[in-house]
Amino acid sequence: MIVATFSGSKGGTGKTTLAVSLALAASLSREVLLVDASAEGGATAYLLGDCPGPYLSEDPDGSLRRVEADELRLTVAVNRGPLLWPQKVAERVAAWASRYQLVVIDQPALTDVDAVERYMPLLKLADTVLIVTEPNPASIEASLYRFGGKRVIVALNQPRPYPKTVVEHYRRVIEYFCRRNGYEYVLVPYEPAVSRLSPSTLGIFKYTSDDYDSAIAKLGNLILRGR
Ligand SMILES: Nc1ncnc2c1ncn2[C@@H]1O[C@H](COP(=O)(O)OP(=O)(O)OP(=O)(O)O)[C@@H](O)[C@H]1O
Ligand SMILES: [Mg+2]
Repeated sequence: MIVATFSGSKGGTGKTTLAVSLALAASLSREVLLVDASAEGGATAYLLGDCPGPYLSEDPDGSLRRVEADELRLTVAVNRGPLLWPQKVAERVAAWASRYQLVVIDQPALTDVDAVERYMPLLKLADTVLIVTEPNPASIEASLYRFGGKRVIVALNQPRPYPKTVVEHYRRVIEYFCRRNGYEYVLVPYEPAVSRLSPSTLGIFKYTSDDYDSAIAKLGNLILRGR
């Protein structure tokens, strides 16, 4: 099972936060690989701090790191910088995938056609796309794409607090989009504990609310359903 995050051209919607949360939660019971394909190395920094190379963008096989803490066991393909040889990276991820029950690819926002082209091999590789969007018009417009032949799960995330009525309005928009296309969605609450992700992220679920934890559990169940 390979899931890739996506938010269209809109950045900062919470792709990395949800990719890391999902990978950590799933790693309690499964073999998980988190591929940091973002240009700024967000997931790498959250989990490994100032991590030295080699990085995914230069040496895919050399980028794999084992992260272990308490009951967590996770493999991370660490990164810094844009992917220069995306096809090669996609081939390596495809080769690694059989060793894991869940592969989470964290992508950057695809802000222009060059970025779309560069990340297309990874997007094609994924069997599930996790659209991460926010309850505002710019984010919704930039991210609600259809992906023929793939499963799509939409996370309506709140990287900052939004009024309940606004969230409810966009929840309906997403519900309609999902119903028309056979997709599923999850509402993720604003969670102050994840707005300060740092290398202490490994212990993040000690600080998060039950609402956030159950949204992440729901996301994991949807993604892994039938596996
Ligand atoms: N549910 C949430 N509750 C509180 N803060 C959140 C939540 N989701 C994300 N954030 C915060 O919002 C900011 C942006 O999140 P994140 O870096 O995950 O976005 P992104 O989509 O990966 O951004 P980029 O497009 O730059 O890769 C971060 O400070 C993060 O901690
Ligand atoms: Mg990111």
